[in-house]
Amino acid sequence: MTTTPAAGRTLEGLAPEIEAAGQGHLLAFVNELSPGEKASFEAALLAIDWDALPGIIERYREPAHAEDPGDLLPPVVGCVMGTAGDCAIDGPSAFAKGMDLIRSGKVAALTVAGGQGTRLGFDGPKGTLPIAPVSGRTLFEVFADQIAAASAWAGRPLPWLIMTSPQNHAQTLAFFVGRNWLGLESGQVRFFQQGVMPSFCPRTGRLLLAGKGSLATNPDGHGGVVRALVRSGELERLEREGVEHLSYFQVDNPLVPPLDPVFLGAHAGAGGAPSSGEFSSKMVAKVSPDEKVGVFVQSGGRTRVVEYSDLPEPLAHARDENGRLRFEAGSVAIHAASVAFLRTIDRAGEGALPFHRAIKKVPYLDTEMGRHVEPEAPNAVKLERFVFDAIPVARRSLVLRVARAREFAPTKNATGVDSVESARRMQHERAVAWLEERKLPVHEGSMVELSGAAAWADAAGLAYTPEALPRAGTDVVL
Ligand code: UTP
Repeated sequence: MTTTPAAGRTLEGLAPEIEAAGQGHLLAFVNELSPGEKASFEAALLAIDWDALPGIIERYREPAHAEDPGDLLPPVVGCVMGTAGDCAIDGPSAFAKGMDLIRSGKVAALTVAGGQGTRLGFDGPKGTLPIAPVSGRTLFEVFADQIAAASAWAGRPLPWLIMTSPQNHAQTLAFFVGRNWLGLESGQVRFFQQGVMPSFCPRTGRLLLAGKGSLATNPDGHGGVVRALVRSGELERLEREGVEHLSYFQVDNPLVPPLDPVFLGAHAGAGGAPSSGEFSSKMVAKVSPDEKVGVFVQSGGRTRVVEYSDLPEPLAHARDENGRLRFEAGSVAIHAASVAFLRTIDRAGEGALPFHRAIKKVPYLDTEMGRHVEPEAPNAVKLERFVFDAIPVARRSLVLRVARAREFAPTKNATGVDSVESARRMQHERAVAWLEERKLPVHEGSMVELSGAAAWADAAGLAYTPEALPRAGTDVVL
């Protein structure tokens, strides 16, 4: 909802619009602000579309109606010949196309890293979390090393776009600068910031103040990536550079191949893949009905993702005649998107990617009592856009089945399920499988990890010999 602030406008000039939108309480402390505080508050308020705001608040004050289960069918899933699944894509053709796209500079990697990472409770941007089991490399380094290896192979610096949010941009940038761009060329890594959405009280419809001169806001969701790419000028730059596709992944998955030739080629329609080349996704079979991942479904002839919390329980548990979950296609939040398609989404305007509503505990400044409140129960509506809502906009959206053990180690929590612990273990197991596939020695008790070069060689089918192999009792980065 945030727009580019109109040049020359002032807080005083905006006050009538704020009043007319029923949000006059936000100005209660303006006279107490220093000039610097006032300027930043002014910038935040000018970035809001005050005409659209009342309609958005009205629409999202109440939760949306529950999903109508009658509408949902399992999706058509694509798979590479020779792997398990119900349709066949010719792997070598898809691979050749993907390698060609990468080699000719038609692909850029895109990481969304603007989230707040509240569940993890790590002090710093999630990408700066040490995650690799042997080297202790951070999430950003795990991706950077693979992008560096792919760039060396392609003979060109493949662009890596990273979306940050106002909350973590400066820290993220400082991390890259402090570590010499993680071995990449400085111009190769391109940061752009996502927008924010103001939180509001569902009872009164009022926006909340975080302080006397600041709004309570949250990053506008990973779906904010489309607008952020446009507003930062990055989408136009990609168009100018002739980049055709973006390889999209989240910052919290150390197993993701940042550039996967087979997926990119299939996304582009090679190998008979059912894809319009606009927006594609990867799926893994859910491990249980309760696993907290969105699921791919078909409704009204289109593919889309339903969040786990929105999938009616009988559907989450339904099984087919072979005992498999009917809605087993779990989303791993790995996508490929064409630059042209993202432009179309942006042109379609605000409605193309709807908001999703969550009710959360948001500390705020009570304007009547003039004191800070730490709520004990959820008190505010947060609105976010989700990138997977682009799927039904695509004419034919590929959903490709992949192996969980090779590609998906979500790092959401500090311990337990989907945690730092489980992600480290999965990286080790992935490296053990790599050794076993090559009939190389595996020693009980030794930890192993794939280097960026080994991981890229694996994705790209290149010969690769590690500098060191594990010996009993030693830990090795292959
Ligand atoms: P999550 O939905 O897991 O959210 O984000 P999170 O903020 O990282 O963690 P919690 O829910 O607060 O614990 C999935 C991916 O989307 C990115 C995150 O950085 C992560 O890579 N994301 C999420 C954004 O880039 N922007 C957002 O506004 C939200």
